[in-house]
Amino acid sequence: MENDLQRKDIIESLENELKNIKTKNDLANIKALYLGKNGLVTNLSLKMKEIPNEEKKEYGKFLNEIKNEVTLKLDLIYQELDKKELEEKLESESIDITLPSKKIKNGTMHPFNKIVEELEDLFVSMGYDVADGPELETDEYCFQRLNIPLGHPVRDTQDSFYVNKDMLLRTQTSSVQARTMESNLEKKPIRIICPGKTYRRDDDATHSHQFGQVEGLVIDKNITMADLKGTLEIMAKKILGEKTIVRFRPSYFPFTEPSVEVDVSCFKCGGKGCSLCKQTGWIELLGAGMVHPNVLTANGYNPKEYTGFAFGMGIDRLAMMKYGIPDIRYMYNNDIRFLNQFNRKEY
Ligand code: DAH
Repeated sequence: MENDLQRKDIIESLENELKNIKTKNDLANIKALYLGKNGLVTNLSLKMKEIPNEEKKEYGKFLNEIKNEVTLKLDLIYQELDKKELEEKLESESIDITLPSKKIKNGTMHPFNKIVEELEDLFVSMGYDVADGPELETDEYCFQRLNIPLGHPVRDTQDSFYVNKDMLLRTQTSSVQARTMESNLEKKPIRIICPGKTYRRDDDATHSHQFGQVEGLVIDKNITMADLKGTLEIMAKKILGEKTIVRFRPSYFPFTEPSVEVDVSCFKCGGKGCSLCKQTGWIELLGAGMVHPNVLTANGYNPKEYTGFAFGMGIDRLAMMKYGIPDIRYMYNNDIRFLNQFNRKEY
């Protein structure tokens, strides 16, 4: 009887307190008042030891019931608060799907990548592989294996970023020639192009400390200068237009013998003379030549059995000429207004 009264009191006072509850924090405070260390219900269970033995069972039952009832009421309120919180959150975060969206600016293909992609498509269609090599390169692969020993004067023309005595940021993609020949263990014929980044200590309107080159290398039996000329003619016509004429001028590179500088007829004026070709009718396009026997030997090929040609071309310069870009720095500024100009059909 006494228990029943006590229980009624407790539940009533709990219900009263729960009426004014607004937050989970309030609820936690009330929970502590009843079930906490010093809580009303907790204190009731401490009384157990004073209860005579024959009544202990009854008292235990009473304790359990009141504990369950209090817990249930608290849980119910908790769930209500939870629901209310979620509704408020959904309300405050509601999205008006009728609002017009922000226009997403589409990216465009960079002129640099356009040229690389065109070259890759063309050379792959002629049976070439696209090769790759490290940009942080050893002096050995960048120079020594290309017939440029330490102290060779040509090193002065390629102002280099050395990171230590033996390693540098590659100054030319020609380093991939040595790597490809060396890794071709069975010394089979090679047909590769290698587009990639190169680095030199330069910085002005036509030179950047980082620029792109495409290297080409063919090694097989009976490869001749005529193969080189034919290949470069196909390339020039494809990239610069069907009417393009290619001419060779004697030149010097340590890794080729004979070496040539390759010019193309000016694609702007068709060879008549204009500002782009400085009134000469010709534009210097790339360096090339027959792979030097020393390079073949240094990389495991017998020059008596194999011959080959190689060429190396600056991608930025070609893109700048082709698209009339006046300053190489535009190529690296990531300005969307610059890039959007190449989104038009004629490109
Ligand atoms: N590596 C040369 C440079 O960066 C370009 C070059 C010339 C590459 C002649 C070649 C070549 O493969 O045969 O200036």
